[in-house]
Amino acid sequence: MAMEDWKVDGKKEEEQEQEQEQEESEQVVNPWVVSAKEGGKIDYDKLIIKFGCQKLDESLVQRIERLTNRPSHVFLRRGVFFAHRDLNEILNAYERGEKFYLYTGRGPSSEALHLGHLIPFMFTKYLQDVFRVPLVIQLTDDEKCMWKNLSVEESRRLARENAKDIIACGFDITRTFIFADFDYVGGEFYRNMVRVGKHVTLNKVAAIFGFTGEDHIGKINFPTVQAVPSFPTSFPHLFHGRDHLRCLIPCAIDQDPYFRMTRDVAPKIGYQKPALIESLFFPSLQGQAGKMSASDPNSAIYVTDSSKIIKNKVNRYAFSGGQDSIENHRKHGANLEVDIPIKYLGFFLDDDAELESIRREYEAGRMLTGEVKKRLIEVLSELVERHQRARSAVSEEMVDAFMAVRPLPNMFA
Ligand code: TYM
Repeated sequence: MAMEDWKVDGKKEEEQEQEQEQEESEQVVNPWVVSAKEGGKIDYDKLIIKFGCQKLDESLVQRIERLTNRPSHVFLRRGVFFAHRDLNEILNAYERGEKFYLYTGRGPSSEALHLGHLIPFMFTKYLQDVFRVPLVIQLTDDEKCMWKNLSVEESRRLARENAKDIIACGFDITRTFIFADFDYVGGEFYRNMVRVGKHVTLNKVAAIFGFTGEDHIGKINFPTVQAVPSFPTSFPHLFHGRDHLRCLIPCAIDQDPYFRMTRDVAPKIGYQKPALIESLFFPSLQGQAGKMSASDPNSAIYVTDSSKIIKNKVNRYAFSGGQDSIENHRKHGANLEVDIPIKYLGFFLDDDAELESIRREYEAGRMLTGEVKKRLIEVLSELVERHQRARSAVSEEMVDAFMAVRPLPNMFA
């Protein structure tokens, strides 16, 4: 398609703007704001059309199973990763024996990650394991310094703390390079930022990210920083001589605007467009209208929460689709569409048969909200405890080792 990626084929810019305004009065999804139409839920099918990405359908899931010779990840089977860009091309290339690399990231805005943040990292670990490919992880300490008004020093400290949580997800050090922007930006990486920047006008970034004249100029240029890890030449110590190595980016769909911009520019500067595999949002405890947010402690479960806190949060705040009395519940059953415990189990309860049985019993009113919440508390406590054990084993030396600028000689082995 000759048009820029973020334009829907065949529509005039004006028409698009009008449509965008209309939709924005309904739902907003960008890297900083995720909100549904009032009282509603995010319409992901609409997002696919608006952003111009593709639906990740069953045939692609089966293709990944065939190619990797492994059962698909629960996030694939259950449609958590629901959209993509050019995933087929990555798989075609892989089938021909060509390799690719993975790129994902985290904006260190808080001391602790919440469960939503774990989703892309758990999934990226699976992709790294089954495809046996290298991975770069960007910590955008510069982004959070600007958007969250943190000091440079505090952002750098949070980046290091968040790196420990990321390492605790089990990444293979022989294939993984973690870097923080404040330390790594320079050299080839910076040269690529300038190459990208020359092809993106102020009007364009304003249209994509909603910047206004009130935003400071640091923000305006930031998208180039998140764009260039998509290009192998930004990592000469890893990919020297492999200028056309393809890149696959796992993330939630809020990050898509950065990569629409990147994909538009890539061919203009002689690079491959990165491919993407994108997830839904893990919802807040209160319901479906947005994504779990790190800034409202009662809306989120953090990887630092104790079992007692998890129990309390789930029992107090998790929005229930059950009826207001036991009598009514037995009669009408639960509304699974709005029930948060059921949604959360859909992300983290691996056993398909057990999940199906809970859904059936709860919907029919034979199982009560309290019983579903009890099972969810067990599942989440186990997940969080496991994460905490792994994190406490991550030493400062390990962080240094993952973040060292070094070649990875066995990254494709
Ligand atoms: P950040 O720190 O906001 O989020 C880190 C990753 O978690 C995803 N995410 C979620 N996934 C599911 N449910 C949620 N409720 C939820 N909230 C956040 C995000 O999509 C992201 O994948 N600017 C980025 C950092 C970054 C990055 C990247 C992310 C730099 N390069 C490349 C992905 C890919 C940020 O602030 O992410």
